[in-house]
Amino acid sequence: MKNLVCVKDFEEYAYNVLPRNALDYYKSGAGREETLRDNRRAFSRYKIRPRCLRDVLKRDMSTTVLGKKVSMPIGVSPTAMQRMAHPEGECANARAAQSMGTVFILSTIATSSIEEIAETAPNLTKWFQLYIYKDRELTKSLVRRAEQAGYEALALTVDTPMFGLRLADMRNKFQLPPHLRLANFIGYKATVTNEEGKLTGSAMNDLGNLFDASLDWGDISWLKSITRLPIILKGILTVEDALLAAKVGVAGILVSNHGARQVDGTPASVEALAEIAPAVGDKLELYLDGGVSDGTDVFKALALGARMVFMGRPSLWGLAYDGENGVRKILNIVKTELDYAMALTGCATIEDIKRDMVVHESHYSK
Ligand code: FNR
Repeated sequence: MKNLVCVKDFEEYAYNVLPRNALDYYKSGAGREETLRDNRRAFSRYKIRPRCLRDVLKRDMSTTVLGKKVSMPIGVSPTAMQRMAHPEGECANARAAQSMGTVFILSTIATSSIEEIAETAPNLTKWFQLYIYKDRELTKSLVRRAEQAGYEALALTVDTPMFGLRLADMRNKFQLPPHLRLANFIGYKATVTNEEGKLTGSAMNDLGNLFDASLDWGDISWLKSITRLPIILKGILTVEDALLAAKVGVAGILVSNHGARQVDGTPASVEALAEIAPAVGDKLELYLDGGVSDGTDVFKALALGARMVFMGRPSLWGLAYDGENGVRKILNIVKTELDYAMALTGCATIEDIKRDMVVHESHYSK
């Protein structure tokens, strides 16, 4: 097999082996994909200010998230339908995260079930990504199953009253291949295509029509009333919403634009983080995903205020390469890159990565 040394190498490999329907579903963003490009470019607009002569002989990348120790501040974001990338899909991805001692977030619309993940990776730090359905009994049963299977938090996705317009999926008339199932819904109506959704031709938009688009801040109290798990709001992009999140008393927010798949034209998630972090301070834990593909991206996000950074697509490229082993390679590569970034900037621990070690490039054109 080829010697792949960075996330981009894995991405290129995956582009050559995945079938069109799956590849387009995984890689695309919404609309003209301006935000998709920006998610990556924005990291380049931040510059690292390295410090010298600060003993970095012994380094430690471990940190805590929701009070639990993890080996590194890099986790796996929820992405749907991972068995299109590898026959073991989410199970392989979860085992890789477990072996790396980090957090894995399972998508509601996964091709492996809540229970299968718990069984295949019993020592995994796992969170469940939740969509709230019009059918609240169905939603409650997902929450109950996640609790019973030992998930440690719910990541409620708040940027998806419906799915964004992803042109490639519309062109392909995207469908889940017939041999795969949305594993959390076997026996439920929720996987059935409904009549409202014929507009775009993509099965994703049909699926999204089952979500409760009337959701508002009051529903966070409802969710809190039915679960004892900490709640993280995934998809916050503004200071206004971050402050509301702090007010309703959730445990954390994942600053994210859903991998640029919802509304095109939003800021890159790292730009939103830079705005949000100083406003929320330590009222709640802050995480980021979107466009992270190198350890220096992780370093920048941590300096700008994230406690933990997550990656979505990179795991899919790892799965396409070699299942569990491929994802482990990806996580190890980004971990090593972060270790180098820390050593070469004078940071022996995660706490040493301070806000003044990263500046926006405009600082140098003043
Ligand atoms: C996603 N994302 C996502 N988010 C979510 O809350 N539930 C989901 O089921 C999915 N599914 C999904 C599928 C695919 C193929 C992608 C690429 C993304 C968004 C995901 O959790 C995360 O926010 C982004 O993937 C982060 O951006 P990067 O790391 O892919 O650039």
